[in-house]
Amino acid sequence: MKTQKRNKQHDEATPLIEQRAAEIQAFGRAVKLPIALSKKVCARSADNLNQLLADTITLRDLYKKHHWQVAGHTFYQLHLLFDKHFKEQNELVDTIAERIQSLGAMSIAMAADVAETTMIPRPPRGREEVPVQISRLLHAHEMILLEARSMARQASKDGDDGTNDLLVSDIIRTNELQVWFLSEHVVDVPLVRADGNK
Ligand SMILES: [Fe+2]
Repeated sequence: MKTQKRNKQHDEATPLIEQRAAEIQAFGRAVKLPIALSKKVCARSADNLNQLLADTITLRDLYKKHHWQVAGHTFYQLHLLFDKHFKEQNELVDTIAERIQSLGAMSIAMAADVAETTMIPRPPRGREEVPVQISRLLHAHEMILLEARSMARQASKDGDDGTNDLLVSDIIRTNELQVWFLSEHVVDVPLVRADGNK
């Protein structure tokens, strides 16, 4: 009996690894949280936000790809700018995902699920020229802005003010500002000699 007890104590220090069990919440099934919003409204907002999340993760990763692969005379400034925008998009990713959880729903998380969900076109694995990199980023931003505005209108109609505020104050404003910073890099102005002085 004594030996058995000692063995049990020994076993208790052993890590319990390779544990598996059924999911506690299936994807796409919202639970009701006491936030004074109907389950239907929460589910609709969460569906929209999951699409936005997949697209925001993709845009974020497109920024990191371009941060690594940028080339040419503007290498250093774009290398820094792309990383700044990456970090800001990464903040948005967390904000969107935690809003989905706050609605009682579940955010997508893994790369394979993101790849299946995003509507942003997949770039090649290879390197591209700066104007092409910027065009890809601008296109992704515009897709996100388009969907965010329509989702914001829906959330407002549904009385989901928290989601509406996130979409307008965080998503729309950040993306519009980043579009401005990018766009100015593809304005074809003389670098040294003004056009009139040729
Ligand atoms: Fe870096």
